[in-house]
Amino acid sequence: MQAATKSVVSEELRARFARAKNVVVLTGAGVSAESGVPTFRGAGKTAVWKGMPFDVISSGAKLDRDLPAVWEWFNYRRGVLRTLKPNPAHEAIARWQDRFERFTLVTQNVDGLHHAAGSRNVIELHGSVWRARCLTCNSRSDLRASEVVAGVPSCLDCGGVMRPDVVLFGEMLPRGVFEQAAMWAESCDLCFVVGTSAVVYPAAAIPEIARAAGAYVIEVNPERTPLSNICDETLMGKAGEILPLIECTVVIENSKD
Ligand code: APR
Repeated sequence: MQAATKSVVSEELRARFARAKNVVVLTGAGVSAESGVPTFRGAGKTAVWKGMPFDVISSGAKLDRDLPAVWEWFNYRRGVLRTLKPNPAHEAIARWQDRFERFTLVTQNVDGLHHAAGSRNVIELHGSVWRARCLTCNSRSDLRASEVVAGVPSCLDCGGVMRPDVVLFGEMLPRGVFEQAAMWAESCDLCFVVGTSAVVYPAAAIPEIARAAGAYVIEVNPERTPLSNICDETLMGKAGEILPLIECTVVIENSKD
């Protein structure tokens, strides 16, 4: 057990993990794959719904043309997500938040599984399927209680039209979220990039900013990505299997001291 564990996690990473003060983790759909959440890309395929590629149904253009269809898509996704649980990768990341002086979790995921695992102060770059936002007064409502949103819901504050509070293709990120993530990336010691194909910007710029500022960057993904070349280490495998390993190797090491 110890020999195998050690080989996946390098001496360098163990040492840096043990002494890190400021850690940033960027996650993508791959961190939720072992919970049963389909990824969008990876393994050479892209997700399709009712014959529409996901980046069509999940686009600002579609929202402008056919808001009820976009709500139907997010009703479907919430229906799937409602039955799913966080996996050991989410749980490891949640534990890490109390391990370092400064810990920043940045996610591209809208599935809410980091919160479900106990992560706090998650920077949700792309919003959440569990919220709706008013197109008129911008107030938000929580959708956890509502099984399925019939048609297009109205705002309880101003009566305006509500939309899913998710950043759709062709849309800007909510003001300030990227800047906040970039600020912590600029000062971190360690940056983990977990389960993202790193093709969507500005999210994929976070590890680039961390690397340029001198951080040690570790990618966790069963496949190489466009970011792999700038990473100090690429741990090729599943996040749910690798992330807990990183922790326990440090614990084993420390227990020997
Ligand atoms: N552990 C780690 N990584 C995994 C696992 C796993 N168990 N399973 C798959 N992966 C990797 C895949 O190899 C792929 O590189 O996760 C990545 C998932 O990539 P995408 O589906 O492209 O997801 P993501 O990078 O989060 O997409 C970015 O694009 O679709 C939009 O807004 C959406 O937030 C999303 C953004």
